[in-house]
Amino acid sequence: MQNLFIAISHMFELKLSLMDQRGWLKIIALIFLCLLPLSQGRGLGDFRFKKGDSDHIYNKTLARILVEYASAVYTVDLTELFAWTCSRCCDFTEGFEVVEIIVDVQNCLQAYVGVSPDPNAIIIVFRGTQENSIQNWIEDLFWKQLDLNYPGMPDAMVHHGFYSAYHNTTLRPAVLRAVEKTRKLKGDVPIIVVGHSMGAAMASFCALDLVVNQGLKKVKLMTFGQPRIGNAAFASYFIEQVPDTIRVTHARDIVPHLPPYYQYFPQKTYHHFPREVWHHDIGLGNLVYTAEQVCDESGEDPTCSRSVTGTSVKDHLVYLGVNLKAETWGTCRIVMDYSVLPYQMDLAGNVVLSKDAIPKEPESKYIVQPSKHGSRVSSTSVI
Ligand SMILES: *[C@@H]1O[C@H](CO)[C@@H](O)[C@H](O)[C@H]1NC(C)=O
Ligand SMILES: *[C@@H]1O[C@H](CO)[C@@H](O)[C@H](O)[C@H]1NC(C)=O
Repeated sequence: MQNLFIAISHMFELKLSLMDQRGWLKIIALIFLCLLPLSQGRGLGDFRFKKGDSDHIYNKTLARILVEYASAVYTVDLTELFAWTCSRCCDFTEGFEVVEIIVDVQNCLQAYVGVSPDPNAIIIVFRGTQENSIQNWIEDLFWKQLDLNYPGMPDAMVHHGFYSAYHNTTLRPAVLRAVEKTRKLKGDVPIIVVGHSMGAAMASFCALDLVVNQGLKKVKLMTFGQPRIGNAAFASYFIEQVPDTIRVTHARDIVPHLPPYYQYFPQKTYHHFPREVWHHDIGLGNLVYTAEQVCDESGEDPTCSRSVTGTSVKDHLVYLGVNLKAETWGTCRIVMDYSVLPYQMDLAGNVVLSKDAIPKEPESKYIVQPSKHGSRVSSTSVI
C-alpha cells in the first residue's frame, strides 16, 4: 500500500511539471480514484483478517444452536422441558439431555443444566426476567448502580442485583452440583454457559465463577442481548479469566446499551466485556442480508451496536430469527407434573428437578415427596 502510494506521488510529481491547472484537477481526481479502491481493499483486508480471526473466536453454527437453548429456558411447562419435548426443544438441540432444572420461585429465576451431543458439552442456561413488563425492567436498567466490589478484585465494580441473582439464590449451589455430577459421568467435557437478557448477566457471573472459584478450564460463554454488568476493570478481569466469550447483540436492541456507557468517563461507568458480535441487516429492498460483525477487543466497539441508537425492545426478543420472548410475563408460574418428576423443594418453595434425585426420607423437612396421585399442578408465585 505504501509503495503504491509512493508510486502515485512520483507520478503526480512527474506530471505536475507538465500539466496546466485543469490537468491538476484531473490528476487529483485520478489519485482519488486510485485511492478509493485501495482504501476499500484495505478495508476488505481487515475484514478478511477479522474473519479469519473470528473463525476461531466466533462460530456462527454454534451461535445458532445456543440461541435455541436460550429460547427453551422460557418454557413454563417443566415436564416438557425436563423431557426435552417442549415446542422450543427441537431442531438443532435434538438429543439434549436435561440433568437438572432449577426454579428459584422466591426470586423468579430459572436455569437448567444438561448435556448436548453437538457440541459435545455441558450446557448451562439462564432465563431472562419474567417481570410484569419487559419495558419496566428495561427502564429500571437505566438506573442500576455500580454498587458492589467484585470479590477478590479491588477495582472491579458490578451491579449488586445482577451479581446476587446468581450468587445469592438457589441457582448457584444447584448449578455447581449439577456440573459436578455431570462431569463425574461425562468427564472433562467443555462447559458452555448461555443466557439471554437478565439471564445473560447471570450466565456471565456463572462462567466467571466456574473458572475463578471452581478452577474449571474449558468454559465458554455466549450471551444474547446482554446488559452491561460491571465497570472497565471488571471487563478486563472478566475477559482474562473467560477469554472464550461471545456477546451477541442484535440491531437496535436496547438492552446492550444499558446501563449507559459514558464515553468521557471510561473509568466511572459501566463497560461491556468483549467480544461483541453485532447482528444487523444491511442492504435495501430485496437485497437485505444479515451481517454478523465481529467487533474489536475493547468491548465498546463504536462501529458495532454502539453505532446505532438502542431503542428497540422488539430486537431484544428475537435473536438469529429465534424467539426469546417469555411465554407469559408477570408471573413466575410453573407447570409441572408432581407425580412423575423427581424433584426437591426447599421451605421457600424453590424447586430443583434432577435426573437422579433420589427420594429422601419423609422426615426431612426440606423435601416434599412427589404425591402418588398428583395431577398436573400449577404453582403460582408473583414477585
Ligand atoms: C462450529 O460449531 C459446530 C457446532 O458445534 C461444529 O460442528 C463446528 O465444527 C464448529 N466449527 C469450528 C470451525 O469450530
Ligand atoms: C442474600 O439474600 C438474602 C435474602 O434473599 C438477603 O437477606 C441478603 O442480604 C443477601 N445477601 C447479599 C450479600 O446480597
